[in-house]
Amino acid sequence: MLTVAGMGPGNLALMTPQAQAAVAQAEVLVGSKRHLAQFPDFAGEARVLDADIAGLLAWLERQRGRQVVVLASGDPLFYGIGTRLVAHFGIEQLHIIPGISAVQYLCARCGIDMNDIWLTSSHGRAVDFDTLARMPKVAMVTDAHCGPKAIAKALLARGVHACWLVIGENLGMDSERIHRLRPADVSAQYAMNVVVILHER
Ligand SMILES: C[S@@+](CC[C@H](N)C(=O)[O-])C[C@H]1O[C@@H](n2cnc3c(N)ncnc32)[C@H](O)[C@@H]1O
Repeated sequence: MLTVAGMGPGNLALMTPQAQAAVAQAEVLVGSKRHLAQFPDFAGEARVLDADIAGLLAWLERQRGRQVVVLASGDPLFYGIGTRLVAHFGIEQLHIIPGISAVQYLCARCGIDMNDIWLTSSHGRAVDFDTLARMPKVAMVTDAHCGPKAIAKALLARGVHACWLVIGENLGMDSERIHRLRPADVSAQYAMNVVVILHER
C-alpha cells in the first residue's frame, strides 16, 4: 500500500499520530531531506524526494507490495505531492493521511478567520495578480520566484496600498518568524514562507 502522510508545517508535534504511526510501520520512506531528517532512527529504506516527479512515479510503480510512505509537507492535497499521486495511481491505490497546512497554521497563530479566504500558490504557475489584488482575503504558498516582495510589488503596481501582508516564515520551526507589514514595507528576503493578504475595504 502506498501511503501519503501529511507532515504538517515543520515539526513532529504538528504531525498527526496516524501519520506518525504510518511512518513507524513503513518499509520505505520517501521525502525531502528536511522531512527525512525528522526520522533519524528510521531503519528502512529512505529515498529523497526531488524535482524529478516522473522518476519518482516510475520508481513507486516498482515498489508495489511494499509499505511505502511518502512524506508531504503540510497537507498532501493542498498544493502538494498528493494531488499528483492521486492523478497517477487513483485514490483506490492510496491512503492519504491529512496534515496541517502551513496556511492553516499561520491563520491559527494570527487568529485569521479562514471562512472567506482565497487559496492560491505560485508553485509552477503564473500568479493571477489581478485576482489577488481584488480578493478581500488571500493566502498563498510561495516559491523562490514569487514571494512576499513580488506580491507586494504587484499589489502596489495595482494601487493597493491599504492592506496587510502577514508573512509566516519557517512556520512550526525554531526559526519561525511572523511579520505583519504594509506592501510598501516589504523589502527583506524571507525564508520558506506563506503569505496572507488582508485587504481593508
Ligand atoms: C509545495 S507547497 C506545499 C504546501 C503544503 N502542502 C501545505 O499544505 O502547507 C510548499 C510551500 O508551502 C509553504 N510551506 C510549507 N511548509 C512551510 C513552513 N513550515 N513555513 C512556511 N511555509 C511553508 C511554502 O510556501 C513552501 O514553498
